[in-house]
Amino acid sequence: MRKIYVFDTTLRDGEQSPGVNLNTKEKVEIALQLEKLGVDRMEAGFPAASPGDLAAVNAVARAVKNATVIGLSRSREQDIDAVREALIGAQDPCIHVFLATSPIHRKHKLRMEKDQVLETAERAIRYARKYFDKVEFSAEDAGRTELDFLCQVTEMAIKAGASVVNIPDTVGYMNPQEFGNIFKTLKENVPNIETIQLSAHCHDDLGMATANSLAAILNGADQVEGTINGIGERAGNTAIEEIAMALATRPDFFGAQTTLNLKEIAKTSRLVSKLTGMVVPGNKAIVGANAFAHESGIHQDGMLKEKTTYEIISPDTIGLKESKLVLGKHSGRHAFREKLIDLGYELEDEAVNTAFARFKDLADRKKTVSDEDILALLEEKLIDTPEVFSLETIQVSYGNQSTPSASVRIRKAEGDVAEEVAIGNGSVDAIYNAIDKVTQENVELEDYSIKSVSQGKDAQGEVHVVLKQDEVSAQGRGLSTDILEASARAYIDALNRLIEKRKSPGRRDKMSLI
Ligand code: KIV
Ligand code: ZN
Repeated sequence: MRKIYVFDTTLRDGEQSPGVNLNTKEKVEIALQLEKLGVDRMEAGFPAASPGDLAAVNAVARAVKNATVIGLSRSREQDIDAVREALIGAQDPCIHVFLATSPIHRKHKLRMEKDQVLETAERAIRYARKYFDKVEFSAEDAGRTELDFLCQVTEMAIKAGASVVNIPDTVGYMNPQEFGNIFKTLKENVPNIETIQLSAHCHDDLGMATANSLAAILNGADQVEGTINGIGERAGNTAIEEIAMALATRPDFFGAQTTLNLKEIAKTSRLVSKLTGMVVPGNKAIVGANAFAHESGIHQDGMLKEKTTYEIISPDTIGLKESKLVLGKHSGRHAFREKLIDLGYELEDEAVNTAFARFKDLADRKKTVSDEDILALLEEKLIDTPEVFSLETIQVSYGNQSTPSASVRIRKAEGDVAEEVAIGNGSVDAIYNAIDKVTQENVELEDYSIKSVSQGKDAQGEVHVVLKQDEVSAQGRGLSTDILEASARAYIDALNRLIEKRKSPGRRDKMSLI
């Protein structure tokens, strides 16, 4: 079996998804889970974008021990210097230098001729090689680059010292046959191509990112770049879990494997969804809630007779277990700990105690506490943001013939408690107006979404909001059996993060890759 290297870019290309804004702690949390998943390489960010991005990449670099940590850089010395600084303390650092090569990008974005592109990229790779043993070069928009020029670019990158040459389909324009042919052509025509690794980086604008990446593998790619849940710029990137499972399910066809710990897939997917606020569609391959659900009678009948009639992957393979242990308000600490272990969480005593107290509180309000409830509860407090404001009480008055009003009682960091009342167009609006009166923060609600954590009328609701103040955005989450309380909690969480972000060295909101 050929080994396919997994280059995860959830923390860089994935973080470029609209509305996603991870803080340093969240990036580290995801990075540590990616390490458990066993990705070979992870791109932690774009250090030149801002001092805050640089600091976040550095925190990841210092935390991760068992994967190569990568920083992205344009073909400029100051970007390369920023990556050098960001990767101080990394066990296995690597720089990812890129320059666009397609005629459209050359003409309109770079305003460079072919020879200038070659020169600029070569200079950057050589400069990067002075400081890094591992340099990956990406020919941005390779998919729309003339094949003979792409061969020239690849040859130049090899000579200049790159160890990986990445072929991005930056705009998701390719189809599998064409994309596969690029790899075949490079393999057959570029001198010394066997001395480096070739990599595929696909975007999903036409829904073909996974198919294109697999075509690249079939034609000689050694590495696939992608993100968890396929998040990323516009329609997203290749979903890592789809590549890993396609290879694992069809070794007969692909003759290639990743070395991912497949049982960590479900957990990683859930964490990325939770921290980015990007909900995984129910029908998403591998990690969607319905990916292993069988609704039609014929399918159910087949499944009961023999699972393989309709199931090509056992849910257990990606770490989805059906737990037999049902918890409720009479369950004790021991059963709770067993359940946590069952769900893949081995916590310290203190963390178990905190989680158990929260579980008891929930069990008082809910008849049965499902696995999803426990996972949501565990993950809610994963990242602690200093609480400048915390919600004490909330009261809402709503009638379909009257104006909704809300009163909130909020504790401030200094210890004093403030109470305010406000009206609004709806209950959530009234709550948010009341919170604004207390906090006196002038913020804009950019995004609001709500989802149910489990089934049933008493299910917990999870709210995700994005707030913006001047050019700074922050997301927040709130969980409760009451969706109005969850809404208030999410808003206050986002406010606390916004304030924290204001204090930290300028994290940019979205990078501009020009
Ligand atoms: O899609 C792309 O071209 C990129 C590059 C920076 C590799 O993300
Ligand atoms: Zn990309």
